[in-house]
Formats: sequence, structure tokens, C-alpha cells
Amino acid sequence: MLAVRDLDVFYGRVQVLRGVDLRVAPGELATIVGPNGSGKTTLLRAITGLVAAAAGTITFAGEPIAGRPTEEIVRLGIAVVPEGRELWPPLTVRQHLLLGAHALPRALRRARAADDLARVLGLFPALADRLARPAGTLSGGEQQMVAIARALMGRPRLLLLDEPSVGLAPLVIREIFRALARLRAEGLTILLVEQNARAAFRIADRGYALAPGGLIAEVASHAPTTGDSTRRAYGLELIRVQCEPQDVAGLGTPPSEANLRMREIAT
Ligand SMILES: Nc1ncnc2c1ncn2[C@@H]1O[C@H](COP(=O)(O)OP(=O)(O)O)[C@@H](O)[C@H]1O
Ligand SMILES: [Mg+2]
Repeated sequence: MLAVRDLDVFYGRVQVLRGVDLRVAPGELATIVGPNGSGKTTLLRAITGLVAAAAGTITFAGEPIAGRPTEEIVRLGIAVVPEGRELWPPLTVRQHLLLGAHALPRALRRARAADDLARVLGLFPALADRLARPAGTLSGGEQQMVAIARALMGRPRLLLLDEPSVGLAPLVIREIFRALARLRAEGLTILLVEQNARAAFRIADRGYALAPGGLIAEVASHAPTTGDSTRRAYGLELIRVQCEPQDVAGLGTPPSEANLRMREIAT
């Protein structure tokens, strides 16, 4: 569904991503973990065309998308739940959701709005009686639900999420992750950027760790035939070995390929 190959990204003269390789197969939930400043947001911005790739290719559903305008990438079916949610506090929940539907062609938008609204409210029932409330009056968890629901209203084929659990209480995080697992079970392809590696790896099919300096390593990968319970056990094993946040934070200081390779062997 998504393939990133040998991607380099610079801000000015500073290289943020180095030869990044990543893939997300259709129906998979892949996660990227990594400490602050390692380039996770930059990677998502490169995928959606908000920053330019200096080298490398990005392919979505068989089409090269690097260098294309963001609107076009969104129209191809990629939706983002951005870092910090990016809601407009005075707009109501319903207005946010209808804005999300604007990724769809106008005719489709009208025909599907009611169904799609029902579907996202089924996923996040807490939003049902808050539709008329300004988003700014909602709790952090509810705001995150609005941001996810808004992205889903555009019926994406690939959902990108940038640290949806930041600042939320454990119970709320569990609710958000349960919703992501459900979306995955319904067949949606998801790329989840997280600092909460434990929660992310528990629901992921495939995992990557990004180290400061922009090097990436695949740290968990599951055969498509692996059953659910095996996957969960495997995920927990991985977490113990190397995916505690502090462990990931130690991945690349200083960043080195040897460091990454050792950790891969450790799994
Ligand atoms: N617009 C920008 N201009 C220059 N440097 C940036 C910009 N955005 C991020 N950076 C730098 O790029 C690096 C990666 O940032 P970012 O992708 O936001 O990391 P993460 O999302 O993993 O915290 C950091 O060192 C950050 O300071
Ligand atoms: Mg970030």
C-alpha cells in the first residue's frame, strides 16, 4: 500500500532522514516509534508532500507520490491525524467532521455524509452527544477522537497518525488504541507514529524505530499467517526486549548503524 525507499530529507543543510526504508502492506497497522526530534513528523510530512524529498521514492497504491501536491495525495486516499490534533477550538464537533469529508468529491460527500457520520460515532460513541459543542470545550481525549474521526470522514485508504496518545490519561489511551485496532480489523491500513511504544507494539503488525540522525530499523515484523494471540505474545516479547520508550530513546546517541543492528539481533 505504502512503500518508502531510500528517503533523504533535509531542513536547510541539516539532514533529518537518512535512507529511510519503510513499507506498510494493505490492511496492516505499522508503527514508527522513536524519541523526540528523531524525524517521525518529518517522515509523515514527506509522505503527504508537505516537505520535499531530497532523494528516494514514495509509492502509494502503486503510484509514485513524491513531489506531488498535498491535495492530490489526500485525494488519492491518504488522511492524517496531525501532531497536536490541529482542531479549531470555536468550530463544533460536527463542523470538524464535515470538514473532514471535504477530501471526498462533492457528489460522494453528500451521498455518504450521514452514513459516514454514523460510522465514526459508532467508533467513538462519546462524541455523539457532543456534536454541537465547540471542539475547544472538549477533553483532550475527546479532541483526539474528533481528530481521528475527521480524518476518517474522508474515507482514506491509508490513515497516518502522529502521536495520538500524547498528553492523555492511560484509560483514554486504551480507548483510542482500541479504536485503532478495530479500524485495522475492519481492513483499514494504518501507519501510527508513537512515543508510547508499549501501546503501539501491542496492536501493530509491523514496527520501525527511528533514531536521532534519521536512521530507521525494522524492529518487529509479523508473518501474515500469524494468529492474533501469537502476534500479541510476540509483540509483548518485543516490548520487553527493546521497545520500552527509554530503550528506544537510547537507540541512537550517537546514531550508528552498528547500534541499530545489535538491537535487531537482540529480538
Ligand atoms: N520546519 C523545520 N525547520 C527546521 N528544522 C526542523 C523543522 N521541523 C523539525 N525540524 C527538526 O528536524 C528534526 C526532526 O523533527 P521532527 O520530525 O519534528 O521529529 P519528531 O516528530 O520525531 O519529534 C528535529 O531536530 C527538529 O528540530
Ligand atoms: Mg513529531
